Amino acid sequence: MSTLSDTDTDLDKQTVTTAYARWAPVYDLVFGAVFERGRHAAIAAAERIGGRILEVGVGTGISLPHYSKNCRLSGVDISAPMLRKAEERVAEFGLTNVEGLWVMDAEHLSFPDASFDVIVAQYVITTVPNPEATLDEFARVLKPGGEIVLVSRVGAEAGLRRSLEHWFAPAARKLGWRTEFSFERYSRWAELTAGMHIIERRAMPPFGHFSLIRFGKDGNASSSEESEPAMRAAG
Ligand SMILES: C[S@@+](CC[C@H](N)C(=O)[O-])C[C@H]1O[C@@H](n2cnc3c(N)ncnc32)[C@H](O)[C@@H]1O
Repeated sequence: MSTLSDTDTDLDKQTVTTAYARWAPVYDLVFGAVFERGRHAAIAAAERIGGRILEVGVGTGISLPHYSKNCRLSGVDISAPMLRKAEERVAEFGLTNVEGLWVMDAEHLSFPDASFDVIVAQYVITTVPNPEATLDEFARVLKPGGEIVLVSRVGAEAGLRRSLEHWFAPAARKLGWRTEFSFERYSRWAELTAGMHIIERRAMPPFGHFSLIRFGKDGNASSSEESEPAMRAAG
């Protein structure tokens, strides 16, 4: 699928990696509690499918201890300092169900097609330079019958909040994310992407400014043991 016309890259990877290198030491303190309900909702949705789960933008690994031990977890993030925190967390909690953590760009995943039963990305899609191309990549590595589970900011359609989001946008870019991001971008991506459909959109705190968004991939779910995601190249 080609990138949509209104999705010009307005965030670059260098800005994002610089921003998250700064966030890494304080990320859990600032964003731990505020996003907790969204993370728990995403984990519950992912566990309904189970099997092999890839967390993209896994960050400091704040979600990892909350998955059931039956789920086999992999995590990727573009920020090495964030990922180091995740490695420390895996060691601290003795998370033997975490199969690997890799520095990797969400838009260019080094996994074969149909590797995972679920792709989870919490508070990530609005931070990547090319959200639609990134969703394409999620769909590629997802098995038929699997789900993409996002928790993501959804911008206001109109009114004061929309004006404020657009006013704050340049400052937000420097912090490493977008404030304005319409739900239409998600629905249009699903419409234009063969084999993918939206299953659910549910408002999430704080203030319902975020949503849990689930996409399904057509086809029958296969046993999670059938295909092992042998890495093409580790980051
Ligand atoms: C707002 S944080 C979310 C972290 C975590 N998922 C959570 O629930 O708190 C966004 C994360 O996405 C990562 N990220 C941004 N762009 C990325 C990309 N292109 N590829 C992989 N990870 C990326 C950042 O480094 C950061 O760790």
